[in-house]
This record gives sequence, C-alpha cells and structure tokens, in this order.
Amino acid sequence: MDRSIRVLRVGQRYVRDDRTLTHLCLVSRALGAESIYLEDAEKDVTGTLEQVNKTWGGEFKAVLGASWRKVIKEAKGEGRSVVHLTMYGMPIQDVIGELRGLERILIVVGGPKVPGKVYHEADFNVAVTSQPHSEVAALAIVLHEIQGGEELKRAFPKSKLRILPTAHGKRVVEN
Ligand SMILES: C[S@@+](CC[C@H](N)C(=O)[O-])C[C@H]1O[C@@H](n2cnc3c(N)ncnc32)[C@H](O)[C@@H]1O
Repeated sequence: MDRSIRVLRVGQRYVRDDRTLTHLCLVSRALGAESIYLEDAEKDVTGTLEQVNKTWGGEFKAVLGASWRKVIKEAKGEGRSVVHLTMYGMPIQDVIGELRGLERILIVVGGPKVPGKVYHEADFNVAVTSQPHSEVAALAIVLHEIQGGEELKRAFPKSKLRILPTAHGKRVVEN
C-alpha cells in the first residue's frame, strides 16, 4: 500500500524544548512520515532539517506555525484518519489491525497540555502502554507498528552522503 503519514505536534511547553521538537522531526523523517506540523518552533529546527535532508537525502518537510485545529480540519477534509497518541487511549495492540489498513494518516502527539477537543476530534486515541513516557518514543513505536518494518528499508534519494553499513567502525561514501 502507498501510505501517506504526516505528524502533528500539539501543545506548547512552558519552556521551549527544541531538542524534543528536533527529535520528533528526525524520528518522523527517518521512520517514514512525509512531514511534521509544529505549532511553535524556531527557525533553527527547520534549518537543522534542511541540513539533514541535504546531507542524507529525501524531502521531509516541517510546516511551522499551523494551528492544530486547522491541521486536523484539513486532514479530515481530505479523508486522512487522525490518530492521537495518548496514554489514556486504546492499547496499540488492540487497534493495530485497523491502523495498518489506513492509507492516509495524521499522527498527533502532544506536549504536557493537550486540549480536550483533540481527544474528541481524533478518529483513534492510541496508547503505547497505559503508562506515561515520551512523545518521541510513542511516535517511533507507532510508526514502526503501522508500517510493519517497511519503513526500515526506505530509500532517501538525492543524498550527498551515504552510509555503507558495517559491523565495526564507520563507512561513509559521497554520492
Ligand atoms: C509528556 S507526555 C504527556 C502524557 C499525557 N498525560 C498523555 O496524555 O499521554 C507528552 C506526549 O507524549 C505522548 N505519550 C506519552 N505517553 C504515552 C503513551 N503511553 N502512549 C501514547 N502516547 C504517549 C502523548 O502524545 C503525550 O501527549
């Protein structure tokens, strides 16, 4: 199936946490999403991503400043299913069959404060264990579970550098 997965990060932190935002972007890119919407991010985050795309390939995009309401509304308007990750949701192992059948998905991850409306707007509220942990970990596991490992073989075209996997040391070639 030709799946399209986008990610939305909802909710601002009291202290801006660029490292978490960057990690959400890098995990989304590496594990098969095509873009991420961030409500509040510094240009630094997009600069880092541009550099990563240039060096390691692909066309992953970060879209800044979009309100979560607008992103969810537009996603639904184009028939995209909204999958909100929360410890209060249904265990991933119970809904993964349904999620694997979806062609277009918007995965929503939160910060400390997620507006109650997000829980109601979502087509699926999904938990990766019913314990609190991290949006980065939850996102990685859900991306992996939905794509069943296919994302691990994904190619990143037009890269400047390419890694030759090796059991010991580092091998990198220029394209
Ligand atoms: C710091 S946590 C806040 C935990 C929050 N009370 C919740 O609803 O999951 C920030 C984000 O991490 C994700 N998250 C944390 N634990 C999770 C879990 N067990 N399952 C799914 N997502 C989780 C959610 O997207 C959450 O909004």
